[in-house]
Amino acid sequence: MQFNGVLDQLKIYEAGKPIELVVREYGIEAKDVIKLASNENPRGCSPKVLEAVRAEAAKMNLYPDDSMYELKEALAKKYAVKEENIIIGAGSDQVISFAVHAKANPNTKVLMAGITFAMYEIYALQTGATILKTPSAGHNLQEMLDIYKANKDISVIFLCLPNNPLGECLDTKDVYAFLDHISPETLVVIDGAYQEYASFKDPAKKIVPSEIIAKYPNTLYSGTFSKAYGLGGMRCGYGIAQPEIIKALLKLRAPFNITNLTLKAAIVALSDQAFVDASVKENFEQMKSYEAFAKELGFNIIESYTNFIVLEFDASKNSGVIAQKLMEKGIIVRNLGSYGMNAIRVTIGTPEQNARFFELFKTIYK
Ligand SMILES: Cc1ncc(COP(=O)(O)O)c(C=O)c1O
Repeated sequence: MQFNGVLDQLKIYEAGKPIELVVREYGIEAKDVIKLASNENPRGCSPKVLEAVRAEAAKMNLYPDDSMYELKEALAKKYAVKEENIIIGAGSDQVISFAVHAKANPNTKVLMAGITFAMYEIYALQTGATILKTPSAGHNLQEMLDIYKANKDISVIFLCLPNNPLGECLDTKDVYAFLDHISPETLVVIDGAYQEYASFKDPAKKIVPSEIIAKYPNTLYSGTFSKAYGLGGMRCGYGIAQPEIIKALLKLRAPFNITNLTLKAAIVALSDQAFVDASVKENFEQMKSYEAFAKELGFNIIESYTNFIVLEFDASKNSGVIAQKLMEKGIIVRNLGSYGMNAIRVTIGTPEQNARFFELFKTIYK
């Protein structure tokens, strides 16, 4: 069968390995497997969310409120914007997909950092657009600007603030200075999936969606409930932009794209800021032990503004082998070999999970 030719360039996205796979392949009991591979919240979610979702389960026979009024209202209040500035997606992934499909086509190019969130490239390739990446791995705004000026047909630029999988983050003032040079016709997606973490660690990196979309009407901010809110399995994300952009993206949304339970979970999660604050605080407390551990063992880390950290090895070690050995003993991390790095990305776990990681890692590393 012949398929759309753009698919020839695409690979199927490989998500972080699930706990179920380690149970099946290595015979380890699920309770003994630790997943530090997908940047989920190791503390789970707010207990208030769990309770509300249980109660909501009885409404499974009904379609959800497709206007998503209550969730949009809560987000509008939190971010000081209007409901017309918001779109909800099944994960921020879906919002990002809408953004790319709304703007890119085979005659345009999509610009991103050398190493960044893999889905940007996948969605852009689906449209037939050409991918442009900076020579530097992380976000280098001068390189981005040089590429932007040399190419007149860039439809979408991605800024991942902070960046997955590297963990670095630009200062907001530098982002603004960059945006000053970008045409109002180019859509700039500001991916804030880990903004709760970055803005806690360093307020100079905080993106205020209402401010950025007012100053730069060609920006779309995307946020998610999957990370700090602990709702990765519920699949809920959002985009914030000027109504003109939101209206275009809404044309790509299928009805009822998120469930009753998801809506309820997200609404209640927004009302429990204390849970998010505690999660973010513990994350950075725990990250210090990774920094100390790297020093002790003598390998490099990339300073992280997220809930994960990249451990980089010298040529005497192989990140793929390390990741594999960890997995065989029940700890799943992300090997960054496919990005051309000799490194692993580890989600910061609970204190107990991290202690187990350090113990096992030491025996493997030596
Ligand atoms: C930078 C970044 N953006 C977006 C996403 C998508 O997350 P979700 O679809 O769960 O909101 C992720 C998930 O890992 C991410 O790391």
